[in-house]
Amino acid sequence: TTVEWEAESYDMGGHDTYMHKEIAEQADAVDRVLRGRIDDRFATVRLGGLNLDAREARTMRRVKILGCGSAYHAGQIGAQLIEELARIPADAEPASEFRYRNAVVDPDTLYIAVSQSGETYDTLAAVQELKRKGARVLGVVNVVGSAIARETDGGVYVHAGPEVCVVSTKCFTNTAVAFALLALHLGRIRDLSVSDGKRIIEGLRKLPAQIAEVLADEPRIAKLAADFADAKSMMFVGRVRGYPVAKEASLKLKEVSYIHAEAYPASELKHGPLALIEPATPTVAIIPDDDLLEKNRATLEEIKARSGRILAVAHSEQEKADDTIVVPRNEPELDPVLMGIPLQLLAYHTALALGRDIDKPRNLAKSVTVE
Ligand code: AGP
Repeated sequence: TTVEWEAESYDMGGHDTYMHKEIAEQADAVDRVLRGRIDDRFATVRLGGLNLDAREARTMRRVKILGCGSAYHAGQIGAQLIEELARIPADAEPASEFRYRNAVVDPDTLYIAVSQSGETYDTLAAVQELKRKGARVLGVVNVVGSAIARETDGGVYVHAGPEVCVVSTKCFTNTAVAFALLALHLGRIRDLSVSDGKRIIEGLRKLPAQIAEVLADEPRIAKLAADFADAKSMMFVGRVRGYPVAKEASLKLKEVSYIHAEAYPASELKHGPLALIEPATPTVAIIPDDDLLEKNRATLEEIKARSGRILAVAHSEQEKADDTIVVPRNEPELDPVLMGIPLQLLAYHTALALGRDIDKPRNLAKSVTVE
């Protein structure tokens, strides 16, 4: 299915920036990526343009996801979802690195190129090199009919609608959801049970209303952002599902506010970056209420012991954090989708407090179509 973009959706619709408009549109955007795709009877999804038959889906041994910037981070979420739901070893790599390192192209690997614009040169070049070597390449792309959509063998459209702001928000979220659909589809062809399939479908259906709930917390997030506007540097940490969320939140903050930020797996803090923690370097910690909760709480203690200020994004108030943004619970596999959204608002309001050119950050282009 294709979704027509309406001309009026280019309008700012009463928002002061496209970034704000696009953040606010996410409940509708996620609704769109789900629309018409859920197949309750078989507890799976139908992905019309995938062009991958069940036999191929059963015999592939690995998945390699390639993209740049926010698309790469969404791909990291995708790789985790595919491993979790379909139990296929999967990883993501920046397309820009992949194409220069003479990677081994393996016939049993499914390659997936991820891109909002579908025109990013590094990602397109990786696709062309893979195709030349006979690999099977799918696309997870937003812009219908774009170069990457055309050059791939099939794929999943993200249906986020037009994204005008240079920094990606709604497309990032929709791409993560598109990967959840793909992972569910691959899982149900392999060993994911009907009950787990139903559980994920229920979780997916809850997302639009839960996104609206997260967005309703904006006034509080705006107040928190005002405190972070004078930070010299910020640290973003998360474990496993939280780590790509931390990476994307750190990128978002850098892009729009120009505040230096680093993202680390929480487990890596003690191997070096803990040396940076002091009152002028606040930490944002992504702490879903999953099997790693206790480990993450221990990380908060380590940070607190160095007098670092902590903002937690969690499913319940975190005692060791100075502030917590509480997001609604969903199925653990889908936590990255909801947990990224308040941090888009944090980046937006920090940039607003600093008077930045939010829709057109310095030195950046919406899509990098040159080498
Ligand atoms: C804008 O700077 C984006 N945040 C950037 O990282 C973008 O995600 C990247 O350039 C890839 O773009 P694409 O999704 O259009 O391929």
